[in-house]
Amino acid sequence: MIKNDLFLKALRGETVERPPVWMMRQAGRYLPDFMKLKEKYDFFTRCRTPELATEITVMPIHQVGTDAAILFSDILVVPQAMGVTIEMKPDVGPWLPTPIRSEKAVNQVVVPNVYEELGYVYEAIKMTKEALNDEVPLIGFAGSPWTILCYLIQGQGSKNFDKAKAFCYTEPKAAHLLLQKITDTTIAYLKGKVEAGVDALQVFDSWGGMLSPVDYQEFSWKYIQQIIDALKDEVPVIAFGKGCWFALDEMSKSGAAALGVDWTCSPQNARYLSGGKITLQGNFDPSRLLSPPKVIKKMVHEMIDAFGKDKYIANLGHGILPNIPVENAQAFVDAVKEYKA
Ligand code: CP3
Repeated sequence: MIKNDLFLKALRGETVERPPVWMMRQAGRYLPDFMKLKEKYDFFTRCRTPELATEITVMPIHQVGTDAAILFSDILVVPQAMGVTIEMKPDVGPWLPTPIRSEKAVNQVVVPNVYEELGYVYEAIKMTKEALNDEVPLIGFAGSPWTILCYLIQGQGSKNFDKAKAFCYTEPKAAHLLLQKITDTTIAYLKGKVEAGVDALQVFDSWGGMLSPVDYQEFSWKYIQQIIDALKDEVPVIAFGKGCWFALDEMSKSGAAALGVDWTCSPQNARYLSGGKITLQGNFDPSRLLSPPKVIKKMVHEMIDAFGKDKYIANLGHGILPNIPVENAQAFVDAVKEYKA
């Protein structure tokens, strides 16, 4: 039994004394201890070394006191396991020496044995579960197939992922083949995460909002739905689509336990669009953590009032930024814990 099960209760839609809180990208660069490790080990070494991944995963639990841990890893370990070379370049971010730009290149991408290629993730989960000692639940995650495709074709981060979109619209057959390979790998990968011990899963569709509603259905949602169908009976699944407010209605009928919302959609509107019954997670503007702690606390209480305390998980609308003072992240978490309806 998990001692602090607020997060799991909210995912089941149960009544809670206060909402649970965690922050997307909470295991990261705003933490001084994380920066110390970053000086010593490069990014994918940190992901591939279970002891380091465990140490980083538990940092925010001890330092800011979130109600759930999210495994330190990256969405891009999946395409790496599929045989694609991906580097993390300082000041650039994810970078591919050879982006995928043809049907031939898609054919060369493999659907791997996840236990062979990603065993280090499963080791990290087992080690982290021991370190957490059932204090709080552990979230596992994967990128959505569309978001992974964005990096594989574009070759790096982008403001509009124009090359990824161009490939989908000119070579739809190859694009769908690639999306299906990513989906099949992701389903096997996440089943392995559940076997290794994660208590919930989140699918990050960070670039879903780049697509029109019609293209979103074709190139993103269809594949996320397959992932939800395959996992929803094992653990609760959270679907987070940045900029995907237009899809909240369909997402609410998918079998996902909760939906992530970014800060461009008001809580009232998100409740309306998602039909009012499903648990929602979000949606504090990550930049608003730059406000003084007093202002943060006031705005967090307003956010909870607007979402309602039940069927709600307090979080940011996207990942925490590296320039956020730890005290401000702390104020965000404390504000949720101090909330009284
Ligand atoms: O949430 C957590 O704390 C768990 C760890 C986590 C990381 N990446 C660690 C990380 C998670 C859940 C991710 C997911 C991820 N990775 C997403 C989806 C979520 C989102 O924010 O949209 C995406 C798009 C990626 C791909 C990726 N990895 C990007 C765009 C970057 C940033 C590059 C940069 O330097 O700005 C990364 C690197 C990365 N992943 C960092 C961390 C802590 C920072 C780099 C470092 O620590 O060296």
